[in-house]
Amino acid sequence: MSDYKKLTNEVGAPIADNENSISMGPCGPVAMQDVWLMEKMAHFNREVIPERRMHAKGWGAYGKLTVTHDISKYTKAKVLKLGAETELFVRFSTVAGERGAADCERDIRGVAVKFYTEEGNWDLVGNNTPTFFIRDVHNFSDLNRAVKRDPHTGRRCAKNNWDYWTLLPECFHQITVVMSDRGIPASFRNMHFFGEHTYSFYNEKNERVWCKFHFKTQQGIKNLTNEEACKINGMDREYHGKDLHEAINRGDFPKWTMYVQIMTEEQAKNHYENPFDITKIWRHKEFPLIEVGVLEVNRNPENFFAEVEQAAFTPAHVVPGIGFSPDKFLQGRLFSYGDAQRYRLGVNHNQIPVNRAKVDVNEYHRDGFMRTDGNYGRTPAYSPNSYGYWTAQPEVMEPPLDLDGAMYNYDPKDDPTDDCFRAGGDLFRDMTEDKRELLINNTVTDMGTISDNIKYRHAVHCYHADKEYGERFTKAAGLDMEKVLELSKLSNDDLNKATINID
Ligand code: HEM
Repeated sequence: MSDYKKLTNEVGAPIADNENSISMGPCGPVAMQDVWLMEKMAHFNREVIPERRMHAKGWGAYGKLTVTHDISKYTKAKVLKLGAETELFVRFSTVAGERGAADCERDIRGVAVKFYTEEGNWDLVGNNTPTFFIRDVHNFSDLNRAVKRDPHTGRRCAKNNWDYWTLLPECFHQITVVMSDRGIPASFRNMHFFGEHTYSFYNEKNERVWCKFHFKTQQGIKNLTNEEACKINGMDREYHGKDLHEAINRGDFPKWTMYVQIMTEEQAKNHYENPFDITKIWRHKEFPLIEVGVLEVNRNPENFFAEVEQAAFTPAHVVPGIGFSPDKFLQGRLFSYGDAQRYRLGVNHNQIPVNRAKVDVNEYHRDGFMRTDGNYGRTPAYSPNSYGYWTAQPEVMEPPLDLDGAMYNYDPKDDPTDDCFRAGGDLFRDMTEDKRELLINNTVTDMGTISDNIKYRHAVHCYHADKEYGERFTKAAGLDMEKVLELSKLSNDDLNKATINID
C-alpha cells in the first residue's frame, strides 16, 4: 500500500521535486531529462475534453427513487414495483450556454436521471418543460445553431433565435413557457421536470400502454425575474450549482413526486391529435396524473469531472417493462446520445464508474480506447458459441407493435388535426394577470431590437393562440394591430413568405 501523502509520478514512483525544474546551472536552460516536468505539461494540455454539444453547463448529485404506489398493471419494470428503492444519479443543466455559462439564464433546464436498477440502467433524459420546441429530429441541429453563437460575430443572437423559432409554428407553446415566469427557475430544487416524450409501458401479460413521465417539485415552484437573474449572474455564475450542493450538505434533500399519464393503444388511435408529437400536451383532465413515488436527491459527488462531466445519459437505455414509442423525435435521440458520447468520452464510456450498471454486464463488445475492466479475459468474443456463454433473453421481448402507412417525408402541418397554437393558448388562459404581464414583458425584452418582420410573425402566432395574447403582445412590441389581423389570414407558408421582407 503506498503512503497517500507522498507524491509519485503517474506510475507510482516517488517524485523528488515538484517545484524546481532541472536546469544546467541555477540560471541555465531546462533539461529534457526532467521527465516529470514533461509529463505534467503534456497531461495538462490534454485535460479538457469536448463539452456536451448542448446542455454543456450542469450540476449533478446522487439520490434514490422510492415507489409508493402500485402501477404493476401498466409495467413490469422492477424499478417501478411497489416498495422498490433504486439508487440514481441526476444531472441538471441549461441548454444553450457553454460549460462556463452563467446558471441563471432564461432557458429550459435539462434533467437527466440514471436509475441503477436491478435490470440494468434506465436513463430518463428530460427537461423542466412538458413539451419541446420542435418535433422532427431533422430540426434539432438547426435549433441549436439558432440558439447558440452567430457564425459571424461569435455572439449569441436574439435575431437568429427568434427568426428560427417563429418560422416553425410548433415552437409556439415552448416559447410561451420559456418567456413565462418559469423561464428562469430560482433553483433546480424549485422546478418540475418531465420526460416530455410519449414512452411505452408493458406489463407481465405483455399488454402495452403509452405513458408520459412527470416529476413535481415538493419544494414548491419559485422563479427569478429578469432583474433578479441579471444581478445574480453578475455576482455568482454558479448560483444553481451552489444552491443544490449546499442544500444537500445541510441535509435539506430536494424531493419530487413522480407521476405518469397513461393512454391506451385504443385511446391513442382515436386521439384528436398525434399522441406521439412532443410539442403537444396530454391534457391532465383527460389523462390524469397517476402517482408513482418519490425521487430524492441526497448525496453530492466527490469529484466534479469524474462524476458530473463524465456522466453519460441516453434515452436508448431502457429496462424491461419500459419502451419507446413511434415519436419521431425520440427515435432520433435513440441514436444521437450514444454517438455523442463515443466522441466525447470514448467507446468504453459505460465503464466509467458513474455510468457503470450495478448489475453484471455481459456483452460481446471488446477492446476500444481506454478499456479498463479486463476486457472479459478469455471468455468467447463471438456469439453464438458452444460454451454456454451469454445468450439472449426472449422472455423480455416487447409486445409487437402494429404500424401502418407508406414511407414518406410527412409534414405534420399537412395533418388537419394539427394545431400548433392550442397548447400555448391554453397556457395563456390559465395564467393569472401578473403572469400574463410578465410573459409579455419578458418576450418583448428578449426580442430586444430585432427587426419587425420577426415580431409580426410572433404576433400572428400569439393571436392564433388567444386574441388577448395577440393584442397585448402587438401593443407592447409597438406593432400595428391592423397588419397583424391581415397577416393572420394567411397560411403558415404565406405568413413566412410575407414576413421575410416586411420591414
Ligand atoms: C432529436 C432531438 C434531440 C437530440 C438529437 C438531442 C441530442 C443531444 C445530445 C447529443 C446531447 C449531448 C449528450 C452528451 O454529450 O452526453 C444532449 C444532451 C441532453 N439532452 Fe438532448 N437531444 C434532443 C432532444 C432532447 C429533448 C426532447 C430533451 C428533453 C426531453 C433533451 C434533453 C437533454 C438533456 C437533459 C441533456 C443533457 C444530459 C446530461 O446531463 O448529460 N434532449 N442531447
